Amino acid sequence: MTGKLSRTETAPVRDSAVPMVKAEGVHKSFGPVEVLKGIDLEVRQGEVFCLIGPSGSGKSTFLRCINHLEKINAGRLYVDGELVGYRQKGDKLYELKDSEVALKRRDIGMVFQRFNLFPHMTALENVMEAPVQVKGVSKAQARERARGLLERVGLGDKAGNYPSQLSGGQQQRVAIARALAMEPKLMLFDEPTSALDPELVGDVLDVMRDLAESGMTMVVVTHEMGFAREVGDSLVFMDDGVVVESGNPRDVLTDPQHERTKAFLSKVL
Ligand SMILES: Nc1ncnc2c1ncn2[C@@H]1O[C@H](COP(=O)(O)OP(=O)(O)OP(=O)(O)O)[C@@H](O)[C@H]1O
Ligand SMILES: [Mg+2]
Repeated sequence: MTGKLSRTETAPVRDSAVPMVKAEGVHKSFGPVEVLKGIDLEVRQGEVFCLIGPSGSGKSTFLRCINHLEKINAGRLYVDGELVGYRQKGDKLYELKDSEVALKRRDIGMVFQRFNLFPHMTALENVMEAPVQVKGVSKAQARERARGLLERVGLGDKAGNYPSQLSGGQQQRVAIARALAMEPKLMLFDEPTSALDPELVGDVLDVMRDLAESGMTMVVVTHEMGFAREVGDSLVFMDDGVVVESGNPRDVLTDPQHERTKAFLSKVL
C-alpha cells in the first residue's frame, strides 16, 4: 500500500461520524492468487455488520486484514479513522513497527471458529491472562473483571473448569469473554458457531446478541442467516474477492438482486 495522501484524508478524527471500519479498494494477494479484488465497505460505530459468502470468497482474509494479521497490497483500510498498519507523516506513509501494530491490535477482539483457549488454564485464568500479561492489570483486578465477564456469558459457575471440562459452546463463550477482557472497541467474529453441535449454537448467539445490544461494533462472518436477519444492521454478500451485494439484512435475504446472491442463498436458506 503506497501513494500520497493529503493530510486531511488521513488525519484521525474522533467522533461517532467516523466509521469504525472503512475499506477503500482493498486488494490482497497470496503470491499470484488475488483473494481480495477491491473491497469497499464501511462499518459504522455500534453496528452489527454481517459478512456471508461461499467458501474461499475471502471473508476470513478480509477479517484478518482488519486485525492487521495480513498486510494489504493496495487500497486503504482504516479502523476508527486510523490507517491500518501505517502512519502518515507529512505526505508520506510509513509502515508501523510490529510493536506498534500489536498495540493497535489490542483494541480489536477476535473470535474464531476454533476457540483456541489455553488448555492448561481454567476458564477464569484464560480470561485473566491477556489483561495481566499484556496490559499489566493487577491479578486481583483482572480476576474480578474475569468473574464478571464469565457471569455475563452465562458461565459464572464454570470459572474453575478447564477447557476439556467444557462443551464447545461453553468454550466459545469463554473465548468471547476472553476477547472482551481487553475492552476492545471492535469485535471480529469468524464463523463462531460453525464448529458447534446445533444444540449449542443458540447460547453463543444469545451472548452475541447481548453484546450487540450493549452497543459493541461487531463484524460477523456467519452462516447463521437467522442471526444476520434479526441482529444484523448490514449484510454483505462476498463472492470471489468482491462485494457482490450489500444492504439491510432483511432486504438482501428476502429479495436478493444479483444472480450470485440468489444462487448462494438458495443453497443455505
Ligand atoms: N495464507 C494463505 N496463503 C495462501 N492462500 C491463502 C492463505 N489464506 C487464504 N488463502 C486463500 O485465499 C482464499 C480465500 O480464503 P479465505 O479463508 O479468506 O476464505 P473464506 O471466505 O473465509 O472461506 P471459508 O468460508 O471456507 O472460511 C482461498 O482460496 C484460500 O485458499
Ligand atoms: Mg473463513
